[in-house]
Amino acid sequence: MRITLRLIVSLIVVVVFVAIVSAWFNVRQEKIKLYEEVTSRSALLADSFQESVRNNLTAKNYSGVQRLADKFQSQKQLEGVAIYDPAGTRIISSSALTPLLAVHKETVEASLKDGQDKAGTYAMANKKMFLYPLSVTLDGGEIVRIVLFTNVSYIDYDLFKIWKRTLLRLLAQMILISIVTLVVVRWTFVDPITQMAEWMKNLRIGDAHGHAPPIKGDIFAPLAKEATTLATNLQAARRSAQNEARLRQEGESLWTPERLKEHIKIKMEGRPLFVVSNREPYMHIKEGKDIRTIVPAGGLVTALDPIMRAAGGTWVAHGSGEADFEVTDAKNRIQVPPDEPAYSLRRVPLSKEQEDGYYYGFSNEGIWPLCHIAHVRPIFRKEDWQYYYDVNKKFAETVLEEIADVKEPCVLIQDYHFTLLPGMIKAVRPDTRVAVFWHIPWPNPETFGICPWQKELVMGLLGADLIGFQTQFYCNNFLDTVDRTIESRIDWEHFSAQKEGHVTMVKPFPISVDFQRPDKEAKALAEKPELKSVLKEMGLKAEYVGVGVDRIDYTKGMLERVKAVERFLEKYPEYVNKFTFIQLGAPSRTHIPQYHRFLAELHAEVDRVNWKFKAKDWKAIVFLEKHHDHKEITKFYKIADTCLVTSLHDGMNLVAKEFVAARDDNSGVLILSRFAGASRELKDALIVNPYDIEQMADAIYYSLTMPKVEIEERMTRMRHDLHENNIYKWAANLTDELMKLRMDDFKLTSV
Ligand code: F6P
Repeated sequence: MRITLRLIVSLIVVVVFVAIVSAWFNVRQEKIKLYEEVTSRSALLADSFQESVRNNLTAKNYSGVQRLADKFQSQKQLEGVAIYDPAGTRIISSSALTPLLAVHKETVEASLKDGQDKAGTYAMANKKMFLYPLSVTLDGGEIVRIVLFTNVSYIDYDLFKIWKRTLLRLLAQMILISIVTLVVVRWTFVDPITQMAEWMKNLRIGDAHGHAPPIKGDIFAPLAKEATTLATNLQAARRSAQNEARLRQEGESLWTPERLKEHIKIKMEGRPLFVVSNREPYMHIKEGKDIRTIVPAGGLVTALDPIMRAAGGTWVAHGSGEADFEVTDAKNRIQVPPDEPAYSLRRVPLSKEQEDGYYYGFSNEGIWPLCHIAHVRPIFRKEDWQYYYDVNKKFAETVLEEIADVKEPCVLIQDYHFTLLPGMIKAVRPDTRVAVFWHIPWPNPETFGICPWQKELVMGLLGADLIGFQTQFYCNNFLDTVDRTIESRIDWEHFSAQKEGHVTMVKPFPISVDFQRPDKEAKALAEKPELKSVLKEMGLKAEYVGVGVDRIDYTKGMLERVKAVERFLEKYPEYVNKFTFIQLGAPSRTHIPQYHRFLAELHAEVDRVNWKFKAKDWKAIVFLEKHHDHKEITKFYKIADTCLVTSLHDGMNLVAKEFVAARDDNSGVLILSRFAGASRELKDALIVNPYDIEQMADAIYYSLTMPKVEIEERMTRMRHDLHENNIYKWAANLTDELMKLRMDDFKLTSV
């Protein structure tokens, strides 16, 4: 209230000041104007009078002058006229004026004393009298003075009226200002702040939700944004505290971001964490004139971003977004996530030729098909290899720059794009602890042997102190490959390879997801999506929905999935018009001819099947080919009766785990390829061979007819496992293992 009062008083003071100053100027102008009018009127009258006066006085005709003087009285404020001799003695005056002049004789005499014809205003019998003298020379040379008496009291009255009007207007303005200020302050500030305070109070006592507080308007937008973030954080902290408490109670130990943060701090003795990957966690792209941030599709980002959010540090990656370098600093760094900066992203710029040779060429036309048994021939070109080498070198230089001031730093390298990087870093900084996590499968030595640069790749990787794979099977394949490719000592008991005195430990670390995240995404949805309304947005109707979420890649078994849906509808026609399969596909590696052909084939297959079952308001398959964000994907996970993850070969395939994490209603069935790493853990999924179309069609049927109790039991068990084996546990295990290694004269040996 005090602020409102202060605001009102300040506004009033300003308004009063302005009004009084302007009224004062008005009054002054008006006064000058009125006096000028009286003066010129008097001058005119005196002038018209003087000739008759001269003639009559020269002729000593006093009665004639008296008559003339009487004519001049009682005219519009003119009280009368008088004539004085040079000694100041009144000769004649208008009869009505005579008594007044008798009383105020001295006043008039004083006004005429200096002999000048100077007009002036004098107080005479409660009146304000304007005296206008005019000297007239008679024919005999004698000078008399005609004096006109005008009552100018009306001028003061007129001026008083102006002041009165101004003050009344001012009063009205003051009342209006007070009312408007009170209403505006109340609407704009008091009400929203009261609501906000109420919301915060509820939040404090645990009643309110983490989403936006109930305040609107431009002024409060930044406050509302910060408050929402604060609320979300508070609730996450509260949830995690509750979780911790519950787990302590149950004697369990769940890995949370907070726990990982503490753990890493202790284990790494306060050193920052360095992550290297080709794909960056946040990409800046252009949308018209605006720059938008997107989170690229793929398991790597899904898994690593929560860790970096929790642990902090630096992530070095290829800056592949078209607006990436418009938002970074001079060192190509930017703090991310954009809404809640928690770690630093160092972007490495690559030329088009480097990207073509290193990324599209050697990594994705060479190593990718080499490691995935998906019947696509790997292509190895000499020029690509050279670019691959150069880019690894460029990343090595960047990493070395980042770790320059850190003693015994820890670097986690991701994936097949950087096989040479561990060796390059170690050669310059042998005190670095280097771990590589290989996200994709590792094939058997015969298959790997196709690569003309197999020795260089293996040697580069053995620069690492620790290499993690998704499964034990890939660890075995790797050590077998090392054994067959180079001269080294393989320790099958401890799973390590020793080359030139340096030991590389090899271990499985099945990667996972942030179990809480899909939950958060779901809560960010306005309300739980309804199957009907989601389908209505697409102009469709269906009773059952299957969903697939993939980067558009030939390893994902998407064509086989389309065929399986077709077979399912043929085999179980009662589901025609009732079951729709929605495929979310993020475009990927589109410059590679193989991916082009694959996409065209996929479209053709979807069209073929849709044409075959064509119906009004219903479609067998909906193919949504675009980049979807986490929130959109979660919506589809939530409405699905079944989720199809049917990769032909995959390191892990985190889509399977994301689907399970999203189903907090303990519903939905997961159909999972036996060739995806995830099938080793998610045993309650319906495990299928993606090449067996008949089996997949039956699996879809089974997922839709499975008793509700069984669905719940399976999903509950999978969620329980995933809850425990989340991404934070993965990161803790990996860093633990890396920190366990002892550094002796910069040669590592296992403890
Ligand atoms: O799963 C293998 C992988 O390379 C991941 O590292 C990455 O998240 C995903 O494929 C996406 O591929 P890209 O980065 O080439 O789009």
